[in-house]
Order: sequence, then structure tokens, then C-alpha cells
Amino acid sequence: MGSRESACVITQVRSTGKARSPFRYPGGKSRMLRTLRPKLDRLVAGKRVFCDVFVGGGSVLLDVAARYPDTKLVANDADYGIACFWRIVASDQYPELCNLLRDAEVNVEAFKRMKVRDLGNLSAVEAAYTRLYLNRTSYNGLGRLPQGGKTQANPKYSILSHWNLDDLITRIENCHRLLAGRLEVTNLHFRDFLRAHRYEPCYLDPPYTVAGLGLYSISMSHQEHEDLANLLLDRADWLLSIDDAPQVRKWYRGAAIRKIPVQYSIVGRKTRCKRTHELLIADRVHGQAKNATIHIPRSRAASQGRARRTPHLHMRPSTQRGPRCASGESLRQLTRRFAPNAGQRGCWAEGQLSIPS
Ligand SMILES: C[S@@+](CC[C@H](N)C(=O)[O-])C[C@H]1O[C@@H](n2cnc3c(N)ncnc32)[C@H](O)[C@@H]1O
Repeated sequence: MGSRESACVITQVRSTGKARSPFRYPGGKSRMLRTLRPKLDRLVAGKRVFCDVFVGGGSVLLDVAARYPDTKLVANDADYGIACFWRIVASDQYPELCNLLRDAEVNVEAFKRMKVRDLGNLSAVEAAYTRLYLNRTSYNGLGRLPQGGKTQANPKYSILSHWNLDDLITRIENCHRLLAGRLEVTNLHFRDFLRAHRYEPCYLDPPYTVAGLGLYSISMSHQEHEDLANLLLDRADWLLSIDDAPQVRKWYRGAAIRKIPVQYSIVGRKTRCKRTHELLIADRVHGQAKNATIHIPRSRAASQGRARRTPHLHMRPSTQRGPRCASGESLRQLTRRFAPNAGQRGCWAEGQLSIPS
């Protein structure tokens, strides 16, 4: 593809503000993009590379690709079918994937045959096709039960409800134009990925810690989540979205944590759109905001008798505008000035320290 053609498409995607994922992904971030963008901008602006460590349906990857046409992209997922999909979409083989979709038989019998396929024994194109087929024809995109059930009794909720072939192919073609020549895809466990990309900015959207076990073909144990937190707390340039659970706040003590509203659409029939919230967690530098407050919790380290040098940052929700720091001092300097004892052995206390204007 000529660079002129791809530049033209990028402009088109930019003007509509959308590059849509062909997947229906549980926990997908398409509905959160507006909230995520300012944080992603802090992470990506001025950088040569952007890494999406748990790419899944790729809504964040596509958004960054459209808004940062000169940034090189790296996408990773431990799910082989997902990794194959993004690899094929960014390659010259994407028409083969489109042809498989055009020839697809979409009914319950075919669904059952697709479901038992061993992706590891398939070519990358076949694996990508199988993963997408199961996603578009199953209940909630989970790949387990056919949409509409085995009997297909209600034509409103049939296996074809989310199978709009023309739209799917258009989405794949748009993704190709956006990603071709600039996307590298890996199929690694996050530990290996983070080791290989030690100094590159990473966005991370791991499976949920509470509901994650039922949602993805590959999920993460609590031990893996804790390992992820330890790896991240030891590096810079990262942004993570995750469910709000007590263990998550414990694992990420020391990082900047912010609560953000979310609307889920892939849930049971009665609660089609459910409002809730998630956490956005960042390394301290990227988590710093003008209206941040310094939150000094009773620290685990202090209770274990170990000293810590700096308190944790806790971001205020955007609706509560907090005092701003007009002096230009860093949060660390402010902490030293206003809470000189913070972090010293035995001096941790529950409380908030506002930054003066
Ligand atoms: C919440 S989904 C990502 C959704 C994506 N951000 C989106 O907007 O569509 C989590 C993804 O992590 C992948 N995953 C699970 N365990 C993993 C691991 N140990 N290493 C890398 N990826 C993993 C799953 O296959 C799944 O695609």
C-alpha cells in the first residue's frame, strides 16, 4: 500500500474519531476512551513507541494508532487467536481473513465445530478467523454458547445477531490501513513482554481480578496480578485500567490511583447498560495532575516497621476539583514541606494533605 493511501485513511479515521474493533470484547475499553485519552496522551505524546500489553479487542490500540500516526505500535496478548488476528490484520494476508469470513457458515452446528478447534494447530489466518468467528457468534462474545442458544428460538437473539459481514470486513480493512507497516505483535506472557520492553511506555488492561475468571479464555491468578503490580511499581511510563477491589488498592500502594466511571454493555439482558467504576493506575510521574491531593494512608511498610520515603498519591475524581499547586513545586517537594515526617518510621497516619494554591 502506498503511503499516500494510508495517510488518506488515517485522516479519515481522525476526522470521524473512530477506528472500530471487529471484536465484541468483555471489558473492552471503547466506552471509556474519552476518559482514557488525556491519560494516554501523557503516556504517548513525544514517544517513538506505544505498547498495549493486553491488547484483546484492541480499542485502545486503534485509538492511539489513529491519533498518533507516527508512533510505532507494539501489541501483545497471551491468547494465540487474538495475537494472530492483529498480526494478520496488519499484514498483507488480511484479504485471506476477509475471504474466510465471506465463506463462513454461520449456524449452531458450525459454531460447535469451530469451538472445538485447536488453534495451536491452525495457520495464523485460520486461528485469527476462528477467534473472530466465535467472538461474533457467541453470547456476549465469550465464545462459549451460541448467541440465541442451541434452539435459536428467538430470531431477535440469533447466532446472526452480531454477524454483519459487510461491517466486519469494513472494520478489518480500516484496521489494516491504520496498522499496516507500523504494528509489531507478540504472543507472550506479560512478564516476558515487560522484560523485553523495559523502557517503553505501556498501557495495560489485564483481566479483571474479580470477574476476570469467567470472561476470557486466558485469565490471571491473584498471584499473577500481584507480580504484575510489583513489576510495574519498579518501572516508569505505564498506565493500567482495572476493577476496583481492595486487593488491587493494596497491590498498587505507592502508585497514583484514580477512580473513573464506566458503563458496561455486555451484561445480562435485564442490566444491559450498567454504570459502575474502574481504577486508572499510573506510575507517579504520569499520575500527577494539577488537582491531585497527596493521600497518606497507613502504610503496609510502616506497619511492618520499614521506612518509606514518599507517601502515596491519590487522584481526586474529576468532579471534585481540588486545590492546585501554583508554585511549580513537585509533589515530592510539597510532601517534604508540608508533611516532613511522612514516611519516617512510625509516622504514617490516615489523612489527606491538600496542595496549597
Ligand atoms: C481486559 S482484556 C483486554 C481488553 C482490551 N483492552 C480491549 O479494549 O478490548 C484482557 C486480555 O488479557 C489477555 N491476557 C490474559 N492473561 C494474560 C497474560 N498472562 N499475559 C498477557 N495477556 C494476557 C487476555 O487474553 C485478554 O485478551
